[in-house]
Parts: sequence; structure tokens; C-alpha cells
Amino acid sequence: MTPSKRSDIPPFYALDVFKEALAAEAAGRDVIHMEVGEPAFGAPASARRRIAEALAGDSTLGYTSGLGLPALREAIAGLYQRRHGLVIDPGRIIVTTGSSAGFQLAFLSLFDAGQRVAIADPSYPAYRNILSVLGLRLVRIEAELESRYQPTPALLAEAGPLEGLLIASPANPAGTVLDRAALGALVEHCAGAGVTIIADEIYHGLTYGPAAPSVLEFTDEAVVINSFSKYFTMTGWRIGWMVVPERMVRPMERLAQNLYISANHASQIGGIGALEPEGEAEAASHMQEYATNRQALMAALPALGFSDIAPCDGGFYVYAGLGGLSADSRVFCAGLLRHEGVATTPGLDFDPVRGTGTLRLSFAQSPERIAEGIRRIRAYVEAGCPV
Ligand SMILES: Cc1ncc(COP(=O)(O)O)c(C=O)c1O
Repeated sequence: MTPSKRSDIPPFYALDVFKEALAAEAAGRDVIHMEVGEPAFGAPASARRRIAEALAGDSTLGYTSGLGLPALREAIAGLYQRRHGLVIDPGRIIVTTGSSAGFQLAFLSLFDAGQRVAIADPSYPAYRNILSVLGLRLVRIEAELESRYQPTPALLAEAGPLEGLLIASPANPAGTVLDRAALGALVEHCAGAGVTIIADEIYHGLTYGPAAPSVLEFTDEAVVINSFSKYFTMTGWRIGWMVVPERMVRPMERLAQNLYISANHASQIGGIGALEPEGEAEAASHMQEYATNRQALMAALPALGFSDIAPCDGGFYVYAGLGGLSADSRVFCAGLLRHEGVATTPGLDFDPVRGTGTLRLSFAQSPERIAEGIRRIRAYVEAGCPV
């Protein structure tokens, strides 16, 4: 038996670092986890309560419709009304096994093998790896800090013919938000050029200035992907959703039925609980801690020698250049974990070309742990970044 050529994709370095960090912890070390994008806070109490009640009443929890529980789809439509003032037909909402399944459904239903989909780097690595596994052609746009690491109509025009564009706002790793003008310009360009937009809005709700507009405020001709993982701190529940044009519902349903049958029933019930007012209030309550952490990192990193720090309008990451600290982010991140017990992610996850010079720090932790992380990073830099 030999592995297929299409399974030959790069690892997710953040998860490799996570594995090493867990091994260090198992050996008795205290590790500050700034590598994975996983909030340290538990799921909302209302989500947990809903599941407990459901299990007490019906422990079968069988398959659901491939599109998801109607009550959850309605509750998600309510979120768009509250956040964006949009009336979305719940019939256009598809519940997925995390946003990760949403990408697979979107790429499979929208494109055929060989078609061209653009992504601006630095970007979340699964985008390009899923495209590659599915036989689609990645058109890599090298975005600069000047455009907030986001694509622009000018960059798209240079990229040649495209069938699709994946955008993320707030973005991972840069944290930058496409404001109304920037998003509107991209939507207009793509409409004119016949390019389908897939918008990853998983970090919506997590912004430190103006709220991130949804692409749905500009057009219904886009596929929006979102999840309970980040804002609602429900990573392991593996529950997310998509909003799609009406004519895409049936093709996606057919794919979802065959690939997954349905999303996890219990997690769907948890999702309904998370969207109750109490759940949303609990999710919102973490913003104060994230804001404190963001401010502490943005203040400390330049003085330690990090450069080209992305603005971090939203999400819970800081993406920074290593300046003169190290020529290789893998060496820097490995040394920092080994000597100081701080796990971070080398930029190569997000930018296979320029990522040797950058790293990402996740700050979805308590302010005490992030302050300790900063103290240890300072000690590592002051020791001359030993390998
Ligand atoms: C930008 C982005 N999109 C999608 C995902 C995947 O999230 P989910 O847990 O919903 O599959 C992540 C996870 O880190 C992410 O950062």
C-alpha cells in the first residue's frame, strides 16, 4: 500500500507544535499555549445545559437532516438579524461539521478539478491544502502589510483568470478586517469578473474596533462560512454553518448527505443553546480578556525586536515579523518552546514563501497566562534566542 499523491500535503505546523507542547506538559513542564487558535474558555453554559436536557429526554440522538436541525438553522438566521440587520431565509443555511467541512462542501459544489481559486497569503493553511487535495488550482496572491495582508481588486486583476476567491475577515493569522469600502470593492470586482466569493467569517464577533461587515450585506451571490468554534468557544464540538444562494442548497445537501450524513446531533442542540441570549452574553464576556491580551502583546512585541506587526483588528492572533531576532521561524519557535515553554506557530503555516521570517501568537487565554508568556518571550530574546 502506498499513500496517494494527493495526500502528500504539508503538515499543519501549529498542530505539530501543539503535539510537542503536549509532550512537554506530559513530562511535567508548564507550557503557555500560544500556538493553537483555541480559546481557553469553556463552551457557554446554555449550550451544555441544552445537551444535558436533550440526553436526559432522548439518548438516541439519531441522524439529523443533512442540512441540519431546522431549529438551529432558524437560530442562526436570528444571529444575522442581530449582528447585521439581515433577514436570511433559514432554508439557505446549512449546518456543517465545523467550518472545515464547509470548505470542502463549498469547493466541491462550486468548482471542478483544475479550476482556479485565489487566496491572499498569509492565510489559514487548510484553505490551500483542501484545494490541493480536491485537485483545484491555488492562485497564490502575495498580499503586503500595506493592504493589511488582504486581497485588493488590483491584486486580483494581476492574478489572471479566476473562478473563485476565498476571503477571510477578520483574517487568520493577520487579524485584519475588510472594512465596508474594501469588501464592497472586492464584491464589485468579483461580480464583474465572474469570480465566486467564499467568505470565511469565522472570527466575526471578535473585533476590537468597528464590527466586521458580512459579505452578505453586499450580495447574496457568495458562500459564507462560519462556525461555533471561535466566538462561541466550542472548538471540539465540531459545529459550523454556511449561508449559500438558494440554488446551491440542493447540490450541497447531496454532497453533505454522502460525505457526512449529518453534522453531530448533540452539537447541533448545543449550538441552539449557544445562540440563546445567555449564551451570546457569555461569549461576549470573553472580549474583555482578549482585548487586554491584544493590547499587552501589541505594546510588548515592538520593544522586543519584532517587526511588521499586522494591525489585529479582530480575531485572537498577532502576526509579526522576526526582525533581526532569527532567520528561521521554525528554529525560533522550537527554541522558544524548548527553553521557555512557550508554544507559538512558525509563519510557514500561513505563508509557504515568506513565512520563515514571521510567527503567529494566539492570545485566546487568560490575561495572566499571556502576561507570563510575554515575560518568557522577553527572557528568551534577552538570552539571545538560543536554539
Ligand atoms: C480562519 C479559520 N477558518 C476555519 C478554521 C476551522 O475552524 P472549525 O473549527 O470551524 O473547523 C479555523 C481554525 O483555526 C480558522 O482559523
